Amino acid sequence: MKTIGVLTSGGDSPGMNAAIRAVVRFGVKNGLKVIGIQRGYCGMIDGAFKEMNFSDVAGIMERGGTILRTSRCGEFYTPEGRAKAAAKLKNAGIEGLVVIGGEGSLTGAKLLYEEHRIPVVGIPGTIDNDIAQTDMCIGVDTCLNTVIDAIQKLKDTATSHERAFVVEVMGRESGYIALNAALATGSEAAIVPEVPVDFDKLAERLFEERKRGKINCIIVVAEGAGGAIQVAKNLQDRIGYETRITILGHVQRGGSPTAFDRLLASRMGAEAVKALMNGETCMMMALRMNRIEHVPIAEALKSKKGLDMSLYELSLTLS
Ligand code: F6P
Repeated sequence: MKTIGVLTSGGDSPGMNAAIRAVVRFGVKNGLKVIGIQRGYCGMIDGAFKEMNFSDVAGIMERGGTILRTSRCGEFYTPEGRAKAAAKLKNAGIEGLVVIGGEGSLTGAKLLYEEHRIPVVGIPGTIDNDIAQTDMCIGVDTCLNTVIDAIQKLKDTATSHERAFVVEVMGRESGYIALNAALATGSEAAIVPEVPVDFDKLAERLFEERKRGKINCIIVVAEGAGGAIQVAKNLQDRIGYETRITILGHVQRGGSPTAFDRLLASRMGAEAVKALMNGETCMMMALRMNRIEHVPIAEALKSKKGLDMSLYELSLTLS
């Protein structure tokens, strides 16, 4: 293999730049030509390719977002779109591909291999941490730090005004961000799609705590569990607190990556190139027991990651 491509696709996540840097530098150091594909699969269909060298990725490790830019590409969902993309790759002499992204992006990579035999390796990059087979995805740690920083600030004002805040976080159908942020901030409750909520019970508990003298209340809600507006509607007249809503939104996807994300991305980036050079295909880089392992993309996509119920129980015990 002489030439490989790298792209970021779907929602961006902090650390993607560190992964691009590792792919480019590890590839170049090992004698490969590395082509950056801009704007994800849309750029692949358009042939938006540019060779990248050592200096092209200097100073990007600490930057949020992705220098290659990204997209959610409707056309790539069609077999015709994928055929166009594959033809563009073949014309450019790209013999292997590193795809950095979440579930949709990895599904696209798998289809590209199945339909056009283009060797692909995936790197899980999404703040949602909803990819099975890997303990962590790139961007999750930075996102959690952003969320807990925001919640800490909300706690200040919640305490001053003796209010409740219902804070909505991202995550699609996954409650990972909500649960982990609630646990890490000592919030009163995490409302997640994986666990049905008994609003009567929850309201009763919060009301009792309020009566016992608690002066603030933070409820973290995953967007996939109905969202903050709905939860506040269900609770606010019953919990004894004046209530405010904060939807954190896309701020969760930005920012300079944490040390954890930079290291994870660097390790996965280098390992992905190694996998392609060794002739592997349709594999995803996964963090397990602090080692980077190679698992079939199909395995990662087969089932939902699921929430760690022992963490959920712990959040109830400690709140
Ligand atoms: O998958 C990452 C994510 O940030 C989700 O948590 C969220 O639901 C979605 O992307 C938002 O997508 P967009 O940036 O297209 O609005």
